[in-house]
Amino acid sequence: MAERGPAPRSLRRRDACGWLRPHLYRLGFRFRGVNQFKTAEKLLLGMAPRRCENVRMLVFLETERLLLRQFNLFDVDLLVELDGDPRVMRYITGGAPTSRGEVEDELLPAFLGYYREFPGYGFWAAVEKATQDFLGWFHYRPAPGDPLDQPELGYRLRCAAWGKGYATEGCRALIAKGFAEFEVQRVVASTMAVNTASRRVMEKSGMRLVRAFVADWPVSIPGDEHGDVEYAITRSEWELARTRP
Ligand SMILES: CC(C)(COP(=O)(O)OP(=O)(O)OC[C@H]1O[C@@H](n2cnc3c(N)ncnc32)[C@H](O)[C@@H]1OP(=O)(O)O)[C@@H](O)C(=O)NCCC(=O)NCCS
Repeated sequence: MAERGPAPRSLRRRDACGWLRPHLYRLGFRFRGVNQFKTAEKLLLGMAPRRCENVRMLVFLETERLLLRQFNLFDVDLLVELDGDPRVMRYITGGAPTSRGEVEDELLPAFLGYYREFPGYGFWAAVEKATQDFLGWFHYRPAPGDPLDQPELGYRLRCAAWGKGYATEGCRALIAKGFAEFEVQRVVASTMAVNTASRRVMEKSGMRLVRAFVADWPVSIPGDEHGDVEYAITRSEWELARTRP
């Protein structure tokens, strides 16, 4: 369960990071926390303002209502706000927020690291197409120690986005992309047994309950006493479901 673990800024500026990052790597910058890159990117943005205006957003996936795009260094505020809502964090930390320092030094660097290391996997920022609003994120990548062809699916959305089917829409699309375009064999997801909304998303995404278990979390939060649950869908189950009317 990887979960534990607003005015959006100008899209133009955020887009620019996707274009700049490879250049920064080529220039010899190596990732050591978000601030190092932020400084370097601001420097380069200042050097090439016109070019930045034409940079397109790095979209990984598009659904009827959502864009799933890469995160970039200008997403700090959005992540701090998301994790600052105790309702969002209830089944993750018991409601405790993630500090700005943790977002800048740990969370966002970890998100950005996936794009280089695991093509096709990662943490994707969910944007509502109709409004361009940031809704939260999905992750789709193998949990530490798991086989590369068995990604774990996860999600965290702002309260304002709940109850509109967005989590299910994103999950279904990510599952389908993994099976159709990559070598994914099995998708897993887990949550606290008492996180009914999350379990429902897994069910509606075609996953089935495979086990209940008790995880050894370093910090206990209310509801832990009911344990955790794991859901999964295999490639053959997904293919079979597609043939049904
Ligand atoms: C879990 C989460 C992503 C769901 O997002 P969402 O966009 O509202 O999900 P969907 O609208 O696709 O589906 C939610 C389903 O759960 C149901 N649901 C929501 N809250 C529920 C509750 N308390 N009890 C029973 N069902 C509930 C909804 O009715 C819906 O099912 P339905 O379509 O059959 O009516 C969102 O609540 C969230 O971000 N929570 C905080 C972070 C989190 O807990 N992440 C998961 C950690 S593993």
